[in-house]
Amino acid sequence: MTDDDFALSRRSFLDHVLLASAGAGMSAAAPWAALAAEDPAMGPRVRMGVIGTGDRGRTLIQNINKTRNCAVTALCDTFAPNIAKARAYVPANTPVFSDHRAMLDAKGIDAVVVATPLDLHARHTLDALDAGYPVFCEKAMARSIADCTAMVARARQRGKVLQIGHQRLFNPTYLNALKRAQAGEIGAITQIRASWHRNRSWRRKLPPGGQDREINWRLYRDRSAGLMTELATHQLQVANWFLGALPTRVMGSGSICFWKDGRDVYDQVALIYDYADGRKLIYTSMLNNARYGCEEQIQGSTGTIEPELGRIYREVPPAQVPALARMRSDVQAGRKRAVPIGGATWFPELPVVTPGDSLGWGEYDETMLQFEGFGEAVRTGKEVPGLLAQAYYASVASLLGEQAIDEGRPLAWPADLLTF
Ligand SMILES: NC(=O)c1ccc[n+]([C@@H]2O[C@H](COP(=O)([O-])OP(=O)(O)OC[C@H]3O[C@@H](n4cnc5c(N)ncnc54)[C@H](O)[C@@H]3O)[C@@H](O)[C@H]2O)c1
Repeated sequence: MTDDDFALSRRSFLDHVLLASAGAGMSAAAPWAALAAEDPAMGPRVRMGVIGTGDRGRTLIQNINKTRNCAVTALCDTFAPNIAKARAYVPANTPVFSDHRAMLDAKGIDAVVVATPLDLHARHTLDALDAGYPVFCEKAMARSIADCTAMVARARQRGKVLQIGHQRLFNPTYLNALKRAQAGEIGAITQIRASWHRNRSWRRKLPPGGQDREINWRLYRDRSAGLMTELATHQLQVANWFLGALPTRVMGSGSICFWKDGRDVYDQVALIYDYADGRKLIYTSMLNNARYGCEEQIQGSTGTIEPELGRIYREVPPAQVPALARMRSDVQAGRKRAVPIGGATWFPELPVVTPGDSLGWGEYDETMLQFEGFGEAVRTGKEVPGLLAQAYYASVASLLGEQAIDEGRPLAWPADLLTF
């Protein structure tokens, strides 16, 4: 499949999604089932009040504006400069609040979007559900497993939709990759190697009037689990999705290795998540080397998928070039790499660098699409199937990983989680 034949109209995209997500337990999320018509009669736009107008909140507002079925009709933030920036993306008469309860009481909204720091997700979500509103909350769900569970339980109790911001579930490249993996194109997937490596401190410069623990909440344990909840949670969702399973246990190691600047979250983590039948996710994240970036290498017996790069590779036998022959051709081609040792008959097992095939790209942004899905869920009162389970288990996996690192011992998957 090439980029060209994956050029997606919204209709053919929906067909791909439905195929990709058909009938497989954990992977049964069909985000657009309800949007399957080319031009659905969507009725009036779902009016959203956004709590948290920081970096992500403003990105969400811009994406909500692009949807066919949602609009932002109220803003709430405790930090006035961020409200001022967000106003640029909404009509001038949009009401603004500094207290989320006042926004919930004021009416004029049909649903609530939560994009506040992690430690506030549970409070803002529970208050909104209690006030009778469906909620879209950013990932990770909450700062503790107990709070994640409480959010799902309260949504059930109130009969309200709760959707979490795992946008890869709406990403055409990922959906195509999943469809092809489920069709057996890369054989038996036994290992996923995932990384999110950056080379920057994550520390934000304080704006006038900004407090460190408010602006840099990601760097403090009481507010965030750092790399685990802010980054790994996305990739744990992907691993569970492609393996069609939940981890059985996790072990890990973490350190504050490079950015010794007063933060108390790890700036480097390495974990192994075990799955049934000996399968594994091997995960690393760090903040002082970006060469390997953000990727999930989904490794099967007949191929590999790298969804961030948008490539699928067939497993081909490594070129059997004897070491001396390789050295001769390297010299002739002017390539400078390690001189092989071990003699003419030794075959160096170098990484395979075939270019693979494209997984294709979608025409629509996944963050916009997740709001079209949410808008439809609010309108029908029916959650998009599978999404909340994916989010809940990904958040649990990230928090359990943090705990395994802290305690320095393998931890079994909790037995007392909610089921879906
Ligand atoms: N899905 C993704 O890819 C993605 C990407 C980035 C961030 N996020 C998530 O979005 C959330 C926000 O991240 P961010 O980078 O925008 O953080 P941020 O610090 O830029 O924004 C948070 C905002 O919440 C406001 N806030 C704090 N306390 C509040 C309160 N009591 N009531 C109302 N507003 C309050 C802050 O003033 C700030 O404007 C986090 O959960 C983060 O993990 C998700």
